[in-house]
Amino acid sequence: MDIMEAIKQRRSIRSYKDDPVPVGLLDQVLEAGRLAPSSSNVQSWRFKVVTDKAAKGELRKAAMDQSFVEEAPAVIVACLDLDAFRERTRGIVELLKDEDGSVKDCDVAGLFALCDGPDEKRCLIHAFMNVSIAVENMVLTAVSLGLGTCWVRAFEPLKVAHALSLPPECPPAVLLPIGFPNQDPPARPRKEMHEIRI
Ligand SMILES: Cc1cc2nc3c(=O)[nH]c(=O)nc-3n(C[C@H](O)[C@H](O)[C@H](O)COP(=O)(O)O)c2cc1C
Repeated sequence: MDIMEAIKQRRSIRSYKDDPVPVGLLDQVLEAGRLAPSSSNVQSWRFKVVTDKAAKGELRKAAMDQSFVEEAPAVIVACLDLDAFRERTRGIVELLKDEDGSVKDCDVAGLFALCDGPDEKRCLIHAFMNVSIAVENMVLTAVSLGLGTCWVRAFEPLKVAHALSLPPECPPAVLLPIGFPNQDPPARPRKEMHEIRI
C-alpha cells in the first residue's frame, strides 16, 4: 500500500474482531518499529506484546477502564529504553528503583522531575520522540496489513509497569491495542493547511 494511502485510511480503532493477530503480521508490525529512526541511532525502545486475557484486563484497569484495551486480541506495550542512553540516564534509572528493585514511579512528569540537568532532560525527550516514531511506523504498517490500532496514552504507567513486571529502565510510553477492525469510523476533522502553516 502507498504510504499516503495508509496515512489517509488510518483511524483510531476502538472495536476489534475476536480473531487473533497472525504471528506473521505481528512480526511485520514490530519490524516496522525496529527500523524506525532515532536520535544518534540509540533505538531507545522496547516492545512487549500482551495477549494474555488477565494481563490485558490489568492494562484496561491501568488505562482508565478503556474497554477496547482488554478486548483487542493483542496490545503492544511500547516502552522507553533508558539504558540505551548509557550513563547519561543511569541516575534516573537508579532513582526509579525501589529498595526491592521494583519500579517506584515512571510517569512522564515524575521522570522529568528526576532528571538531573539539561543532558538528562534532552535524553528523556529524545526517548519519547524515538519511541513515538517507532509506534507510528507500526500504526501505519498495521493499516497496510488490514489491521487497526489506537494510540493509548491515558494510563497509569506505574500500574502497567507492575502488572507486566517491567524493569525500571523501561517505563511504558504507549499502549497500542491491535487487531482486525470491527468498525469503520469516519475520518476525524483536521485543521486546514493555512491554519497550521506559520
Ligand atoms: C499521543 C496520543 C495519545 C492518545 N491517547 C488516547 C487514549 O488514551 N485513548 C483513546 O481512545 N485514544 C487516544 N488517542 C487517539 C486520539 O484520540 C485520536 O488520534 C484523535 O482523536 C484523532 O482521531 P483519529 O486517530 O481517528 O484520526 C491518542 C492519540 C495520540 C496521538
